[in-house]
Amino acid sequence: MSLLERVRTKGDGDDAATVAPAAPAAAPLAPSEAPAPAGVGVASAGGQRTPSRLAAAVAAGGPEAAAPAPASHPGWHERAEAVRERHAGPAHESRSASLPQYSAIKAQVTMALLEEYSDVSKAPRERLVAKIGELTNSVLGELSISITRNDRQRLVEQLINDVLGLGPLEGLLKNPEITEIMINGPDKIYVERHGRLQRYPAKFDSSDHLMQIIDRIVSSVGRRVDESSPMVDARLKDGSRVNVIIPPLALQGPTMTIRRFSKDPFTIDNLIEFGTLTKEMSTFIKACVRGRMNIVVSGGTGSGKTTTLNVLSGWIPDDERIITVEDSAELQLHQEHVVTLESRPANIEGRGRIGIRELVINCLRMRPDRIVVGECRGGEALDMLQAMNTGHDGSLTTVHANSPADALSRLETMVLMAGTDLPSRAIREQIAAAVDIIVQQARLRDGTRRVTAISEVTGFDGDKVALNDIFLYHQEGLDEQGNVIGHFAPANVPDCLETLKSIGEGVDPAIFEAPATPTPKAEDSAA
Ligand SMILES: Nc1ncnc2c1ncn2[C@@H]1O[C@H](COP(=O)(O)OP(=O)(O)OP(=O)(O)O)[C@@H](O)[C@H]1O
Ligand SMILES: [Mg+2]
Repeated sequence: MSLLERVRTKGDGDDAATVAPAAPAAAPLAPSEAPAPAGVGVASAGGQRTPSRLAAAVAAGGPEAAAPAPASHPGWHERAEAVRERHAGPAHESRSASLPQYSAIKAQVTMALLEEYSDVSKAPRERLVAKIGELTNSVLGELSISITRNDRQRLVEQLINDVLGLGPLEGLLKNPEITEIMINGPDKIYVERHGRLQRYPAKFDSSDHLMQIIDRIVSSVGRRVDESSPMVDARLKDGSRVNVIIPPLALQGPTMTIRRFSKDPFTIDNLIEFGTLTKEMSTFIKACVRGRMNIVVSGGTGSGKTTTLNVLSGWIPDDERIITVEDSAELQLHQEHVVTLESRPANIEGRGRIGIRELVINCLRMRPDRIVVGECRGGEALDMLQAMNTGHDGSLTTVHANSPADALSRLETMVLMAGTDLPSRAIREQIAAAVDIIVQQARLRDGTRRVTAISEVTGFDGDKVALNDIFLYHQEGLDEQGNVIGHFAPANVPDCLETLKSIGEGVDPAIFEAPATPTPKAEDSAA
């Protein structure tokens, strides 16, 4: 029996809908014990839950093979459809459009592969790749499809990505220019490139295809996502951070956001070159880090807080014991004496969560010289401030706020979240005593990241925390291409100059008199 006939005996038509195996009447994610297929683009960890071969075949079968709505959430498919329609953008190039029989070819190749290899995950990738090449040739022959050698090569690559890898994500993950990948359901992929958001012209075959790939990604790091735990935050082996949220919580379909970090994290020279800050600003902050000032990096989402925190932490002297506390370990410190702590989400029964706050409290018992907290988001702010006030000078953290003054009020709110009944005044006094410097960062309209202020906390004026701006970024306007025009300029001489000098970290006071520095345009800088 020919390959095509073999496949057709499973259905009675010649399109993908009939050649694909029956979809299981279950949630889009079929649970299984089978290990992940070979060649998944992320390193794999042992003992994880991965999709079954049947689910793999269904996902590979294209849109027609979509599984029905999960029984426990009647109607979500319809609501999700309605949302998708509402948000439907212009038609984009899709694989099925470029080769109408793609779904059928893929289904047949997948089926034949599964018939030959009882466990695809155990077969060597090279053999599978060669086999996919062979199978593609026979299917093309049997369907009498003639395409050029280049197209055939592309088709085989696409099949390899879809059947063994991460589908349309495969290429994106290899592109070092792409710093963020946002997938809003199977039809819409957005990427951030050079700081700008762009629609990416590719699609997943269906929600199930996307779920299959999401499952490959999260299970490779020992996590799971399904109806009972529909949100997941994970860090991939390559350091990327991934967030997944699926229906019924996300109505447009499975939604995944991947934040990528370059293997070589940005250095201070990179940030100066991008126009994120000036040499003078970096000289001052470096002296503050080395001089054990407590520093808060403040900024909005994706403004570059963690990147800047990483650069700042890099200035901590080698002979100090650094303890980092993060939700997902993103910092890449080069010092030798670093202890990395990562929080843990609750397990499937809702137990076992260890939050940032518990880790901060624990790290105080670990004799840290420096505590670096990836982000203060809640009650840990109180413990962090107490640590900063009780001998752990030189600690660093980030907060989500839009200005230095806003960062101070965020800290105050977060201390209240710790359940303390301290009066506001006492909290502010504690903040004034603990925090020395605020580095404010922003992502501007043109995608560039700028340190928009470096401010010094100079004390408590009886009512509020007093701030002294040291450097400021002044935005002047936009040019015709939408690039932000602006310049950095020193604002005031810091009060801490004498203190820095007394501990051997003095800086030339001339940097606070330096002339204004215009910033490069978005396309001139890497951001
Ligand atoms: N100074 C910079 N210039 C250009 N790109 C940058 C800069 N800093 C960070 N980026 C890029 O911006 C993205 C976000 O950076 P980062 O994770 O540091 O931001 P964040 O403020 O910590 O984000 P979040 O609020 O999500 O934690 C990354 O892809 C990073 O490579
Ligand atoms: Mg961050």
